[in-house]
Amino acid sequence: MRGPAGTAPAHELAGLRIRLAAAEETLRAIRTGGVDTVVVAGRHGPQVFTLEGAWHAYRVLIESMNEGALTLTVDKMVIYANQSFARMVKFPLEQVMGGSFRRYLSVADRAALRPLLRRPGKSGAKILATLKAGDGSFLPVQLSIRPLAREGRHPATVGMVVTDLTEARRTEELLRALTHRVVQVQEAERERVALELHDHITQLLCAILFRCQALVDELSARDGPSLREAMKLRELLGQTAAEVERISRNLRPGVLDQLGLDAVLRATSAEFAERTGVPVKVTCVPLAVRLPADTELALYRILQEALKNVGKHARARHVTVQLTKPGDTVQLVVKDDGIGFDEAHHEARRKGKRVLGLLGMRERAAYLGGALTIRSARRVGTEIEVRLPLPPDATKAAA
Ligand SMILES: Nc1ncnc2c1ncn2[C@@H]1O[C@H](COP(=O)(O)OP(=O)(O)OP(=O)(O)O)[C@@H](O)[C@H]1O
Ligand SMILES: [Mg+2]
Repeated sequence: MRGPAGTAPAHELAGLRIRLAAAEETLRAIRTGGVDTVVVAGRHGPQVFTLEGAWHAYRVLIESMNEGALTLTVDKMVIYANQSFARMVKFPLEQVMGGSFRRYLSVADRAALRPLLRRPGKSGAKILATLKAGDGSFLPVQLSIRPLAREGRHPATVGMVVTDLTEARRTEELLRALTHRVVQVQEAERERVALELHDHITQLLCAILFRCQALVDELSARDGPSLREAMKLRELLGQTAAEVERISRNLRPGVLDQLGLDAVLRATSAEFAERTGVPVKVTCVPLAVRLPADTELALYRILQEALKNVGKHARARHVTVQLTKPGDTVQLVVKDDGIGFDEAHHEARRKGKRVLGLLGMRERAAYLGGALTIRSARRVGTEIEVRLPLPPDATKAAA
């Protein structure tokens, strides 16, 4: 029964007061972690979840974690969440508990999470996601999901640990920027050494070669042994000058500007084959336009390092170099049929050694948003695959 317009009868008000007091008590209990039972709206009406026995002890532990910890139904309803999670998503805990986990996820992350919640596998699953917080900010996280044992008639639930990756991402970015700087300094230093070699050492070698030739011309056939020695010296000096020129050329990325990527990859491979006697088969897709300078330089340096490794470690009989353009990426594959190696073994060995080749290749690829994959098996060979993204104009024109 209603009272005079707009007012409720006294007994209705008293009833509302009692319900308000009960709701406030529940909120207080949620805030202080004193809740034993949670009712969640499920597909088939309200579902009751209870926290029993040992759960109380675990809850103390879970409340002291920095990570977010949750218990969810397979329909993504939050049965339990700790304070850390509420702080991460910037929602009051009482709004998190009993609500849906979907509200923090993008459409893509929801779709990725769905099968994992339904079938997380015995040992659980991990995915990276971005959570949307209450103030509209976004948080990069890792979600670790584990199935929880179904107890009696309780519906199946999953446990989730949410790790905030903001700090890790920041450190990663810093490291990447630093590595890029190292690569830039290395390139500048290579350019300087190349110029020194070209301007000074090559000049000196040419002068010595000239004097040597004069000596050969002055010595007559009667000076037999001395003449042979001078001729040998001339030959060695010629070889040294050619070798210095080769080193200087390899140090300078300028050849890329003059010749283009395709020609430089072929020349580098041909030079390797000539020097080592290991044949290299090169296939390159025709590239109608130049790729970004950074991309070309990375591919050139990665090929140089990969071939250097083949020469140094592989004992290969054949090498193939392949440049392709799958989708909006460019891909370089260097494959040998040598002795191969076991990366885990190599990682263990690397700790005490200064090996930078593979690390440098990986970093060059990662800085450009690409990835480097190594496939290697003992006595089968090694395949280095680098895939770099291309900007849209390069993608269209290079197709
Ligand atoms: N093509 C390959 N065949 C067989 N083993 C290889 C090959 N490439 C690399 N490796 C193995 O991986 C290791 C690491 O290679 P990485 O280029 O990082 O270092 P490195 O060549 O030994 O030294 P650095 O490149 O710093 O001079 C090598 O020591 C070698 O054991
Ligand atoms: Mg190396």
